[in-house]
Amino acid sequence: MSEKLKVIFVCLGNICRSPMAECIMRELVAEEGLADKIEIDSAGTAGYHVGDPPHPGTQAILTEHGIEVVGRSRQITAADMRAKNTWIIAMDSSNKRNLERLNDFHPNLHMLLSFANSPLTPADLAVPDPYYTGDFETVYKLVTAGCRGLLNSLQTSGALT
Ligand code: 4NP
Repeated sequence: MSEKLKVIFVCLGNICRSPMAECIMRELVAEEGLADKIEIDSAGTAGYHVGDPPHPGTQAILTEHGIEVVGRSRQITAADMRAKNTWIIAMDSSNKRNLERLNDFHPNLHMLLSFANSPLTPADLAVPDPYYTGDFETVYKLVTAGCRGLLNSLQTSGALT
């Protein structure tokens, strides 16, 4: 039996961006009939909000788009960074740097927007933090483009075989 591939989306607080990515990716993976092949999770580099549900703005935009809201905030661990068959997907370069401090040779640590094919994608590939900007709609569009590209990449790279 082949091992499930795991994707962990990571932002700072794990209440705005990465839970949004987790919920959107769950939806896309279910649509493709791949739920038994890909496990999806999210975490924060910081522990400020451990145990909290997603931010009300994230909940509202997901609900508006008919996407189920799941998950509670948790902090990424060294064990997450050592786990086999796991892709770690950072929302911005600060998240990525903090993750590299836990494991600087991770084979599958990427920025979400490196997979996006959208004219909205910023040059620095950072998903802007709606905790500060309040703009959950832009984040929804960017995260959706990133998740679509990531899923396509998983499907075409042989990672799921
Ligand atoms: P997130 O946004 O990293 O997208 O979940 C933030 C959430 C909380 C804080 C910062 C960013 N905070 O400082 O509490």
